Amino acid sequence: MSTSYTVDVIAGDGIGPEVVPAAIACVDRLAELHGFAVDWRERDWGSEHHRRHGAMMPEDGLEQLRTGDAIFLGAVGAPDIPDHVTLWGLLIPIRRAFRQYVNLRPVKSLPGRPGPELDMLIVRENVEGEYSEIGGRYGQGTPDEAAIQEAVFTRRGIERVTRFAAERALERSGTIVSATKSNGIIHTMPFWDEVVAEVAADAGVRVDSVLIDALAARFVLAPASIDVVVASNLFGDILSDLGAAIAGSIGIAPSANLNPEREFPSLFEPVHGSAPDIAGRGVANPFAAIWSAAMMLEHLGETDAAAALERACFGALADGVATADLGGEATTAEFTQAVLGRLSDM
Ligand code: NAI
Ligand code: MG
Repeated sequence: MSTSYTVDVIAGDGIGPEVVPAAIACVDRLAELHGFAVDWRERDWGSEHHRRHGAMMPEDGLEQLRTGDAIFLGAVGAPDIPDHVTLWGLLIPIRRAFRQYVNLRPVKSLPGRPGPELDMLIVRENVEGEYSEIGGRYGQGTPDEAAIQEAVFTRRGIERVTRFAAERALERSGTIVSATKSNGIIHTMPFWDEVVAEVAADAGVRVDSVLIDALAARFVLAPASIDVVVASNLFGDILSDLGAAIAGSIGIAPSANLNPEREFPSLFEPVHGSAPDIAGRGVANPFAAIWSAAMMLEHLGETDAAAALERACFGALADGVATADLGGEATTAEFTQAVLGRLSDM
């Protein structure tokens, strides 16, 4: 009997429903070739669900997801609903409830594109930090109107994400770059620096602690000098779009929201959003979604299939098939066909 996986699919909004089927088609092809099966549980959650029912997902949505092996998400976000409503109504609760405290975001250089050889791994803290509900607004409509937002950094939270990054670095360069801002942010960031240094020393890796502004410049000027990056929720979010853009396009960047202890399903999704500016035209780059599916296969233990999918994705680009964001003319469907063709040829 072949192994079977249950994967919840939330295609979501905008280009989500365009790039998710591309990733599913690739995984289904690999399932045939590698002798496993995937039961896709499609969830019509997202902004349309919000318009109809006043919530991004059903009240027992998390309970429904809990029984699966993994979650695959396209993107959520629509111009007519505030972005904090869409994000806090679905993605952030999933990350937190399922203790997906690592957001792993690889950046690699693409074949046929100018620029330095890149191979970075951004390890973003994914459940605390600057993204917190603590704070409030007051004095609305008066000249004294104000908003206060508190960042939350815990020793346990910093330790576990740094340990994950250090373990990756031990298999790579032996150094982690830590994104900080301990000159300007005087409570949380010096604490971050201390805990990162302790964990790194314990794990036997070097730490290169770099202020976030200087690190942003280093991403642009000397990205090849960077291997594993450990960063807080906000800094990691920004750095991963920057890394993707340096590699060529935000349309290529994949991510894995991991619960490393495997107590709960992990979630895999492209880094990009719902891209309403190009939605509905069939031109979105499915590369990020397909690469995210490869990360999911790796997590599920289908390592050969995962490696084959990543190779096929990069191979299709090397063959000169590229979507508009990478300067090409291929549609979403054409790029997907190129990847499927490569999978069948392997
Ligand atoms: P975005 O990533 O959706 O788009 C930024 C730019 O990159 C746009 O010009 C878009 O056309 C382009 N782009 C993105 N993905 C692409 C792809 N696969 N192929 C080709 N071009 C691509 O970010 P933006 O515009 O800031 O946000 C749009 C909506 O998405 C907002 O509602 C936002 O809240 C939401 N969002 C959702 C995320 C998620 O579900 N994880 C993450 C980021 C944003
Ligand atoms: Mg982002």
